[in-house]
Amino acid sequence: LAPVQQSLSRETPSLHPKFFYDEAGSSLFDAITRTPEYYPTRTEVALLQRYAGDIHDRLGQPHTIAEPGAGGCEKVRLLLDAWAPDHYMPLEISRQCLLGASRKLAQDFPAVQISAVCADYCQAFTMPQSLSQPGRVVFFPGSTIGNFEPRERLDFLRGLHGLAGPGGALLIGADLQKDPARLDAAYNDRAGHTAAFNLNALTHLNDSLGCQFDITGFRHLAFYNADHERIEMHLECLQDQQVTVGDRVISLTAGTRIHTENSYKFTVEGFSALLTRAGFQPAGCWVDDDNLFSLHLALVM
Ligand code: AVJ
Repeated sequence: LAPVQQSLSRETPSLHPKFFYDEAGSSLFDAITRTPEYYPTRTEVALLQRYAGDIHDRLGQPHTIAEPGAGGCEKVRLLLDAWAPDHYMPLEISRQCLLGASRKLAQDFPAVQISAVCADYCQAFTMPQSLSQPGRVVFFPGSTIGNFEPRERLDFLRGLHGLAGPGGALLIGADLQKDPARLDAAYNDRAGHTAAFNLNALTHLNDSLGCQFDITGFRHLAFYNADHERIEMHLECLQDQQVTVGDRVISLTAGTRIHTENSYKFTVEGFSALLTRAGFQPAGCWVDDDNLFSLHLALVM
């Protein structure tokens, strides 16, 4: 509660994007991925389908795939099919999500040993003893890396380097810079799922931290900020209001924006350079025909 009170009381109020993802938020995100405007998910899945074999050729046979923030473990199915590794290790903060997805995978892939690790992948965690063998392939799809601020991003990638270990690798999805109109459309879908997803962060705070946001007093705002090479999402306050946030009352004036998310967009060259700075050796990049999205393979030597 205290960090939320603090971030909302600043000159430019903000909320951490993790507040999007309660149960309602996760299904709203699913709905976003099915809108015609939101290209990243379907483009990345098509890349995985098309190039899983090529990636395997570059990589050799991996014994373990580790996936931080695995969620429903949907995309990795393509890799388990194509690569048949011995182990799959999903790391996921939601125990319910982790157990549900792991059970289903275990049924569908009886030959793969699944070791579910319930952990916040942004914090340090200890690896199960049985899985301490290095040389893992870390799978980090979805351009989730785009949610990190530049200075956290490098540290986070160095952490993934450690998780992969000597002889390991990283397979990571990065959304690409493109016509801003295309980006704006992807974050302002006509069906309004992105707007509902953004506003749901406030509903989540109401439900989980005893806040009293009137969500009708806010509107969804998303736009490409070319200077920072990122999509920004905000919740704009429509009238002056006093909001109860736990044991505090915070005043927001009409026009104030609560900054809820940054989604950075990359170039292939820029992202490869970033992987190099994080200690990896870039070993391949696959992009769709429309240059929308990139999949990068990078090795730990
Ligand atoms: C899951 C963080 C990659 O930034 O595109 C989708 C989240 N926000 N629509 C993204 C999101 C608004 C998504 N990531």
